[in-house]
Amino acid sequence: MASRTEIEHVLSVFPEISRIGDLELRENVTGIWCEILGEMAWDDIHHVPKNNSSEKHRTLVEHIRGVTAMAMSLAEIAERIQGVAIDHDALLAAALLHDASKPVETEPDPAAPVMDPAHSPRPSRTSALGAQIQHAVYVAHKMFARNMSHDLINLVITHTHQSNVRGKSVESAILFYADFADSDVGLAGAGGRMFAERWAMA
Ligand SMILES: [Fe+2]
Repeated sequence: MASRTEIEHVLSVFPEISRIGDLELRENVTGIWCEILGEMAWDDIHHVPKNNSSEKHRTLVEHIRGVTAMAMSLAEIAERIQGVAIDHDALLAAALLHDASKPVETEPDPAAPVMDPAHSPRPSRTSALGAQIQHAVYVAHKMFARNMSHDLINLVITHTHQSNVRGKSVESAILFYADFADSDVGLAGAGGRMFAERWAMA
């Protein structure tokens, strides 16, 4: 059971959680993040980079918040222009949880130099868990433990091409593209090679 202080910390890192309408879903998203923050080897969630390689200049928190904002904007536009119904709560929860495994899939790399302690994320390496368990599986396990719906777990699992299952809902498509869009904007800004440049249809 998370303390009041831990819950308030998570809500300050991810204020978008407060936009989830369903109280139980909001508490589950908050609770999973409290557990992850308690388990990770990092001192501060703001030290965790988006990844260990081409996107190590950005924080994971910035990425998750960017994906969440992009996903909700896409949803609003799709509803307005195409008149489709989108489950806002599911999309919000999945966007906020999609990379919640990353702080335990990675750990600080004490051998690497810290570039800019005040402004940049810390050097990172793959943890033992990250080396052996497919991305996003760990957060899915936490979602199962809370009896969260298979539809919601599917949304989180299918955000990554590492999944052997593909998303079939509008929400899964929006999360998938929002994740790539936020990643590519970050990569382009750092002079990296965007996922859009590497795209290949099966
Ligand atoms: Fe992501």
